[in-house]
Amino acid sequence: MSVEPVARSFAPEALGTAVHLRGWVLRSRSSGGIAFLLVRDRTGSVQVTARRDAIGAEGFDKVEHLPGESVVEVEGTVHADARAPGGREVRASAVRLLQVSEPFPIWSDQTEEFRLDHRHLTVRTQEMVAMVRLKAAMLRAFREFFDREEVLETTPPILSGNAAEGGSEAFTLDYFGKPGYLGQTAQLYLEALIAPHERVYALTSSFRAEKSRTPRHLTEYLHLEAELAWCDLEELMQFVERMLRQVLAELARRAPEELRLLGREPSELTSLPEPFPRVTYAEALERLRAKNFDLHWGSDIATAEERALSLEERAPLFLTHFPRELKAFYMLQSPHDERTVEAFDLLAPEGYGELVGASCRETDNTRLRERLVATGVNPEEYAWYLDLRRYGSVPHAGFGLGIERVLRWVTRREHIRDTTPFPRTPARLTP
Ligand code: 4AD
Ligand code: MG
Repeated sequence: MSVEPVARSFAPEALGTAVHLRGWVLRSRSSGGIAFLLVRDRTGSVQVTARRDAIGAEGFDKVEHLPGESVVEVEGTVHADARAPGGREVRASAVRLLQVSEPFPIWSDQTEEFRLDHRHLTVRTQEMVAMVRLKAAMLRAFREFFDREEVLETTPPILSGNAAEGGSEAFTLDYFGKPGYLGQTAQLYLEALIAPHERVYALTSSFRAEKSRTPRHLTEYLHLEAELAWCDLEELMQFVERMLRQVLAELARRAPEELRLLGREPSELTSLPEPFPRVTYAEALERLRAKNFDLHWGSDIATAEERALSLEERAPLFLTHFPRELKAFYMLQSPHDERTVEAFDLLAPEGYGELVGASCRETDNTRLRERLVATGVNPEEYAWYLDLRRYGSVPHAGFGLGIERVLRWVTRREHIRDTTPFPRTPARLTP
C-alpha cells in the first residue's frame, strides 16, 4: 500500500486531490457532527475534518475525543479552508484508529528536569523536531562541502589506546586488562590517513570527561574533523571560513522554517561580515586588559574572556597564535616566534564561545617528543604517531568542529543539551 505523505496536501497542486496519510493526533475535538483532528507525520501537521455522516457514527465516536499521540490512518481529499492551520484541511472519507495512546505525559509548563527525564517523549515536541531536522540539514551541508572540495570521508576508531587531548578529560576503560580510552579526537588517525589520501575528514562521536557543568559542554558530542596535507595556517583559516559560510547558506536555503521556529532569522546567516575578523592572542590580551581583565602572557582565554572578546562581534572571530604551553603537544611552533604555535580557535559571535579548534601540526620529531615529555606523557605511547614523521612527512594542518556548538550558536540556545536528542552531560546518562 502506498501512503501519500501529508506534505503533498500543502503542495500547490494538492487542492482537490485524494490523500492517504498515517500519523499521530496532536489534538482532537468535535462540534456540530464534525470531528477536527490535527495530525502530525514526518512532513508536518495538517487538520483533518471528519463528518459523522461521512465516516459513520461508530468511527466518529471513537475519534472525536482522542488522547494526544493516538495513531490514525486517514483517507480524504485536500480542500482550502482559511480557518485551518496552514489554510488547508483534509476532509476524511475514512478514519481508522490504529492505537489509542495513554494520556501523553508531556506538556509545555513542566520543569526542565522533568522534560529531560522524559526526553524519549519530548523528542516529539515541535522544538526538538525542528532541531533534529536542522542538524540533519547541517550534516548534509558539511558533507556536500567536503565532497566539493575533494576531501575524503574516512572512518577512524572511537576506542583508542591514546588520550590525545589530555588524559584528565578522557573516559578510561578496561580493554581486556589494558587501559583504553573513548576517543576525544580522531586527529591522530586522520594525520596517518593524509599520506595516502592528502585530504580527509571524519564525523565521529567524541567524548570528554569534563565534570564542569557548563552550558556548552557535553560529555559526548559530534565532532567534525578534517586534516589537509600541504596546508598552512592562512589556507586553513580560509578553508574554515569558506566552509562555514557555505554551510550556513545551505541552512538558510533548505531549513528556513526550522531556523525561524528556533529563533534565528535565516538572512542573518547569509549576511555575516566578510572576512571573519582575526586577532592574535597577544592582541586579545591587550583588548581584554582594556576591559579590566587581569591577564598576562600565558593566561588562559577561558569562558569569560572568550565571551568578552566575541560579544560585540557579528561574525565568528579567529583567535590565533597562542602560547605553546597553553596548547596540545602536536601544534606547530610558529616560524616567526618560538613562544607561539600556528593555531587558531574560531569563536562564535554573540558570546557563544569556541566553535573550532585548529592548528598546523609539528613535523619535527624531536620537538614532538619534547612536547610530550613536557606534558607528562611517555613518548613511547605515541611511537606509532611519531613514525608518521619518519616516513614521508609533509606539512599539514587540520581542525575539529563541535556540531552541537555550531547549532547552539545558530539557534541561540541557552544550553547545548537542547541541540541534540539524547544529551550526555555529567548528570545525565539516561534516557
Ligand atoms: O579544541 P578541541 O579540543 O580540538 C581537538 O580535539 C583537535 N584534536 C581537533 C583537530 O584539530 N582535529 O575540540 C575541537 C572542537 C571545539 O572547538 C569544540 O567546538 C568542540 O570540539 N568541543 C566540544 N563540544 C561539545 N562539548 C564538549 N565537551 C566539547 N569539547 C570540544
Ligand atoms: Mg579547543
